[in-house]
Amino acid sequence: MNAQNPNDLVGAARVAARRLRARLFTQKPEAVLQPERLYQYLDALWQRRELPGAAVEIGCYRGGTSLMATRFLRRSGFPRRYIAYDTFGGFVSDQFQEDVKLGTPASFRRHFADNSLALVRRSLDRYDGKEIELVQGDIATLPDSALPDQIAVALVDVDLDVPVHRALERILPRMVKGGIVFVDDCPENYAWAGARVGYKRYVDSMNLPERYSMGLGIIEL
Ligand SMILES: C[S@@+](CC[C@H](N)C(=O)[O-])C[C@H]1O[C@@H](n2cnc3c(N)ncnc32)[C@H](O)[C@@H]1O
Repeated sequence: MNAQNPNDLVGAARVAARRLRARLFTQKPEAVLQPERLYQYLDALWQRRELPGAAVEIGCYRGGTSLMATRFLRRSGFPRRYIAYDTFGGFVSDQFQEDVKLGTPASFRRHFADNSLALVRRSLDRYDGKEIELVQGDIATLPDSALPDQIAVALVDVDLDVPVHRALERILPRMVKGGIVFVDDCPENYAWAGARVGYKRYVDSMNLPERYSMGLGIIEL
């Protein structure tokens, strides 16, 4: 390249920018789930390795936990269907507004909005997560056909009261005997107020025991 030629310089800068963009936008996704909860989730996948049914993650953001879980399943010799759901654009406005009434700061509104289905697909494909099925949509309104008939392990990680409650209503009838459901973000007096409220509303309405472990709400079938 002739460094004196401005056209060459512009062309080289464009190529470099394209490469940088490709690298930035296909970074390996990191799990948002806290380590003590990831540990419980992976252990539950291991303990239920003989059960039929899919694993589902409702609210997967960039797919970091999905990637860890599917690699764990494969490497431990018990691969299983893994379906990850998300809007891939952050919160649904009216669902978020309900949480503001519960005390969730309004400034959290744009969390997780910096995402897209194409971005997550590309990075999962690049980092050994091709088998992860991605489904885009609001868990409250997705068609029934988007959910598997049988679920062994479920992680509900959508942060807010309304979609947590609705997710539980939709997946519990599909859980196999011996299966388990985790709801993330359920510590007491937490800034994300809604997840615990949605979990508690559901278990109370179904007369199920209210049980927490390391900030996860738990339902065992
Ligand atoms: C905390 S992040 C999930 C983190 C992910 N489970 C992990 O461990 O890496 C919460 C996600 O829930 C998604 N979400 C929020 N409301 C939703 C809804 N109604 N339906 C589907 N996804 C939703 C957001 O877009 C966001 O990506």
